Amino acid sequence: MIRLDKYLADMGFGTRQEVKKYIRQGRVCVNQKIVKTPDVKVQEEKDSVTLDGNEVAYASLEYYMLNKPAGVVSATEDSRDTTVLDLIRDKKRKDLFPVGRLDKDTEGLLLITNDGALAHRLLSPKKHVDKVYYAKVQGKVTEEDVRCFQEGVNIGADGKEEWTRPGTLEIIRSSSESEIRLSICEGKYHQVKRMFQAVGKEVTYLKRESMGPLVLDENLHSGEYRLLTKEEIKDVTEWNAE
Ligand code: URA
Repeated sequence: MIRLDKYLADMGFGTRQEVKKYIRQGRVCVNQKIVKTPDVKVQEEKDSVTLDGNEVAYASLEYYMLNKPAGVVSATEDSRDTTVLDLIRDKKRKDLFPVGRLDKDTEGLLLITNDGALAHRLLSPKKHVDKVYYAKVQGKVTEEDVRCFQEGVNIGADGKEEWTRPGTLEIIRSSSESEIRLSICEGKYHQVKRMFQAVGKEVTYLKRESMGPLVLDENLHSGEYRLLTKEEIKDVTEWNAE
């Protein structure tokens, strides 16, 4: 049970003060009856709440899959750049955030939710969640690189050592510009780009294809998003949950 004003504010209909005003103005009904007291308690799953006659469904947890385009930042707010949250136009909750960060120029799978416990499990360094990236790389990627990545590479700068865990590198096309798929189970800053730097190569295009059990939907064009299906929510929330 939650307060009526919180219910409406949680669903993005205004600040607590604003929704209190709507309630006092008689614009809000609970189970078809006008309710003018903001502190009345409603049952999120059972009661019908309307504002100006329009049903307001309550969502306590929301999960979106975004195919992040290049040029937007993985943040909730930014004074200069478009954020991944700006792209989720019909979100209900105001407390959504991206689970982890992709660089501004990286594309692909980003989970956006307000499920903090799930985010913690997916991001915790202890959980070793596999993330698969597709990349275009300047230079010829070799079997030697595959072996290096398998053993872990030193991506440290200024003489400091910073070793990665083993990564699985698959060469799709090896040429003056190569195409690869890389699976890593960490999320160090700029990790994929720095791994290739460590073997003298430059990533020119990077896209995340999967994270744990969640796979980017091929039907989502760059910049598009959708709610996770019930099955995806089950897979991702039950996965690694012990
Ligand atoms: N590795 C990178 O270098 N950049 C990303 O955005 C994600 C992984």
